[in-house]
Amino acid sequence: MRPPPLRPWPLPPLSSTCWEGNAVDEPGGEMPVKGTTLDLIAEEVSACRKCPLAGSRTKAVPGEGPGNARMMFVGEAPGRDEDLSGRPFVGRGGKLLSAALETVGTSRKEVFITNVVKCRPPRNRVPLKLERDTCKGAHLTRELETLGPKVVVLLGRTASFSMQGVRALGEVRGKLIERDGRTYLSTYHPAAILRNPRLRSTFEGDLKTALAASRRNKPPK
Ligand code: URA
Repeated sequence: MRPPPLRPWPLPPLSSTCWEGNAVDEPGGEMPVKGTTLDLIAEEVSACRKCPLAGSRTKAVPGEGPGNARMMFVGEAPGRDEDLSGRPFVGRGGKLLSAALETVGTSRKEVFITNVVKCRPPRNRVPLKLERDTCKGAHLTRELETLGPKVVVLLGRTASFSMQGVRALGEVRGKLIERDGRTYLSTYHPAAILRNPRLRSTFEGDLKTALAASRRNKPPK
């Protein structure tokens, strides 16, 4: 009897769930895998020229974090430090976010951090609709679908408006909102805490709420 034909190794579409490691249960042994789908999205972000912000950026800033993160943080857009380094939330706001994550019992290494737009707008202005829509469609939605986090934390008005249509942050801030099979929580942007440190305890309370929701029904290790 002839052996069954070898099946070709399928590369998952970019919007598929995250894949990592080598497939070993197929004939022919292991499939060499260079990176995860999130890595491929990051490469596309770095090379993206889909909107005018590509013309003024130094580096595009892809989302960053482990492929099994249960929390995803979405900010507005890279600032100067992020534009120079190519990494999200590395400036003063990023340091505040990292410290707040430690305070509530998690760390930057455990969460995925990204932005609505991946390139710095000139003089840090709020990203325009065209920039937000283009970048969301090309990159943010795919990061979200690929990661499949339990909770999406929206930092500030731009992220809350872009992802949830929220116009007044005060109406939803700190609430867990189920939508399209995902849980969202809007809170302050770290820059708002830098401007008004009295908001910090509320911000940390919101992060605690999001963390608890992300850990609910966590499978035992
Ligand atoms: N502010 C943001 O919204 N994102 C960053 O990455 C840095 C500052």
